[in-house]
Amino acid sequence: MSIIGVGIDVAEIDRFRASLERTPGLADRVFIEEELYLPSGERRGIASLAARFAAKEALAKALGAPAGLYWTDAEVYVEDSGQPRLRVKGTVAARAAELGVKSWHVSLSHDAGVASAVVVAEG
Ligand SMILES: CC(C)(COP(=O)(O)OP(=O)(O)OC[C@H]1O[C@@H](n2cnc3c(N)ncnc32)[C@H](O)[C@@H]1OP(=O)(O)O)[C@@H](O)C(=O)NCCC(=O)NCCS
Repeated sequence: MSIIGVGIDVAEIDRFRASLERTPGLADRVFIEEELYLPSGERRGIASLAARFAAKEALAKALGAPAGLYWTDAEVYVEDSGQPRLRVKGTVAARAAELGVKSWHVSLSHDAGVASAVVVAEG
């Protein structure tokens, strides 16, 4: 096992909220249904969404930020314990396979108006 890449990103929560409000369709371009909505059917809070956006940016950095990755080919899902995990498919899975990535680690945080994420790609 070895570390293939690491990525970090921060997102200002109010700015992220404004971008979603200003650009119809942006939320659906970036997130899948299970990220946008809680199991209860309520929309996920904006700070958690901003952290998920940061996770996708961090994941892209861990892969060297090549062109052509689809945002919806990376999903942040949550274990029963509450721990977030990454699942990838399509464009992201293909790039990860090229680099030999076998597993992902992600950590999210949001406080003081900022959401952030760190991603580690392990081979
Ligand atoms: C390259 C990219 C990640 C930069 O992100 P950003 O939000 O504009 O800028 P940030 O301030 O967060 O990060 C800037 C840092 O990214 C790093 N960076 C730039 N290109 C990079 C690359 N190809 N790989 C990894 N890190 C890179 C640099 O260190 C840069 O800091 P520096 O200019 O001081 O050296 C962004 O433009 C990008 O391509 N995003 C990916 C979009 C995407 O693929 N989405 C789908 C993912 S599922």
